[in-house]
Amino acid sequence: MMITAADEGFDQALLRQAFGCFPSGVTAFCGMIDGKPEGMTASSFTSVSIDPALVSVCVANTSSTWPKLASLPTLGLSVLSSEHGTVARSLAAKGVDRFAGIAHDPGPCGPILKDAVGWIDCAIREEHDAGDHTIVVASVSRIEAAADTAPLVFYRGVYGTFRAAAEFSPVAADEQPRRAGRR
Ligand SMILES: Cc1cc2nc3c(=O)[nH]c(=O)nc-3n(C[C@H](O)[C@H](O)[C@H](O)COP(=O)(O)O)c2cc1C
Repeated sequence: MMITAADEGFDQALLRQAFGCFPSGVTAFCGMIDGKPEGMTASSFTSVSIDPALVSVCVANTSSTWPKLASLPTLGLSVLSSEHGTVARSLAAKGVDRFAGIAHDPGPCGPILKDAVGWIDCAIREEHDAGDHTIVVASVSRIEAAADTAPLVFYRGVYGTFRAAAEFSPVAADEQPRRAGRR
């Protein structure tokens, strides 16, 4: 597949395919709305800054769930595990009770999913317009990681997981990312 810039813009389906070549983890941003858990799946989560501790997510301007979550003082973010493929689908579905059958705890800042790889409590700090999405930057107040839980990975529209390449791991301390989760 070859994608090049065109004066009229890109073929959107091809562009989606091209962006899908970048493998990502999958997260769920969740909060309590009128006493009920609400949440949405997001693969655009990124660690941003160590000091202060910041993360970001890109949210589609068409999302009907995000404005509700954005009105909350805090959110609970879960990093989904390889067993959470159905959860990722449920928390992206329209017109359903997204949390039906999803094991979760209330969490101090918003619902957190059971058996996730990690949990981040956060509060929205900035929102930046970016085309048909909004880049949301959030301050982290608490972070917790589970030991030995495999992550859910999203790649070219398919769910999978991560397997370390034996010849490269573990990564030496002087090769470790300088920025949060980054190279
Ligand atoms: C694997 C996966 C990753 C997703 N990542 C994002 C994302 O990063 N940003 C986003 O706005 N929507 C993302 N979505 C879509 C939302 O979860 C949701 O379907 C969308 O917001 C429509 O629902 P809503 O109108 O109720 O918000 C993703 C969905 C899936 C299944």
